Amino acid sequence: MEAILLVGGKGSRLRPVTEYTPKPMVPTAGVPFLAHQLARAQAAGVEHVVLATSYLAEVFEPYFGDGSALGLKITYIHEDEPLGTGGAIRNAASALESGPDAPVLVFNGDILTGLDIAGLVRSHQAAGADVSLHLTRVEDPSAFGLVPTDPDGRVQAFTEKPQRPEEIVTDQVNAGCYVFRRSVIDTIPAGRVVSVERETFPGLLASGAHLHGVVDKTYWLDLGKPAALIQASADLVRGVVPSPAVPGPTGDYLVLPGAEVADGAKLTGGTVVGAGARIAADAVVDGCVVLDDAVIEAGAQVRASLVGAGARVGSRTVLEGAVVGDRAEVGEDNELLSGARVWCHSQIPAAAIRFSPKP
Ligand code: GTP
Repeated sequence: MEAILLVGGKGSRLRPVTEYTPKPMVPTAGVPFLAHQLARAQAAGVEHVVLATSYLAEVFEPYFGDGSALGLKITYIHEDEPLGTGGAIRNAASALESGPDAPVLVFNGDILTGLDIAGLVRSHQAAGADVSLHLTRVEDPSAFGLVPTDPDGRVQAFTEKPQRPEEIVTDQVNAGCYVFRRSVIDTIPAGRVVSVERETFPGLLASGAHLHGVVDKTYWLDLGKPAALIQASADLVRGVVPSPAVPGPTGDYLVLPGAEVADGAKLTGGTVVGAGARIAADAVVDGCVVLDDAVIEAGAQVRASLVGAGARVGSRTVLEGAVVGDRAEVGEDNELLSGARVWCHSQIPAAAIRFSPKP
């Protein structure tokens, strides 16, 4: 079985995490997020993966090589100018080897899910569909692409990010994993920007194609924003969602070889500490991603945050729901809460920012 993975987006909602690292390569639970997706695809029977790259394309191949270490064959296809999700699928199809009727999996490169991938392919084939989509149910569908289906699973409409309340006719949303009949990919226009969500799917529906939706309520998280990325890493570390690529036993924390954690430091909530990182005494690090060579000094309290590669968090500083970019420094006695983003290489002096009066 073959799969196309879309990994070329700019990941702008994640900045500054994606300043030097494309979203699929951001470490989650100790390895690039893409490693989890590749491992899950391999476990589901995928043999050949085509990576559709564009933004920071050069970093993928040095890490994954020809894929043999993962039991896969990986082909890299590059877009000089990003072609959008549909354009990227069409462009990557040049590397596929399957025949016109074969099922081809397509994954967004930023979705963590426990989906039964092989089950989706079986359902696609049983329905005789042109395209099948994994659908998930969410509480607030307004930020997603809505996909209502009839009782047999046949897709009735596509409404991308509904603007008006009356457009919210279902809580089923596009979960970013598809099975295409190979020949359908060849109908996407070549050489220009195409959105699969806004153009290809509505166009196929209008032309009478058979689009099949498979609602699956398993774990699903879109890693588009920092809080979700941090949550995904913690869930992988704790084994809430299983991945064969987690480099160690699942549990309350994961410390990669070469990291130093002082006695008295408290790691909880699925925190991962990268190679060469140092956590000082009495620091509390709860549900966090601490990347390679970062330093968290004595008595700091860091919760649900991402601390970038080589970044420093000073003594007694409190971070909650914050992102500290690569090699940035947050001096001691600061307090950065909900959604704060410190840009890469920037420096915040000691006791400069608080969200509450001084203790
Ligand atoms: P934002 O800029 O934060 O919206 O993130 P993004 O650029 O990743 O866009 P989005 O989350 O909508 O993308 C969904 C998936 O498609 C991600 O895995 C992206 O890497 C991928 N993707 C988006 N646009 C392109 C593109 O033009 N080319 C390729 N190859 N992949 C893309």
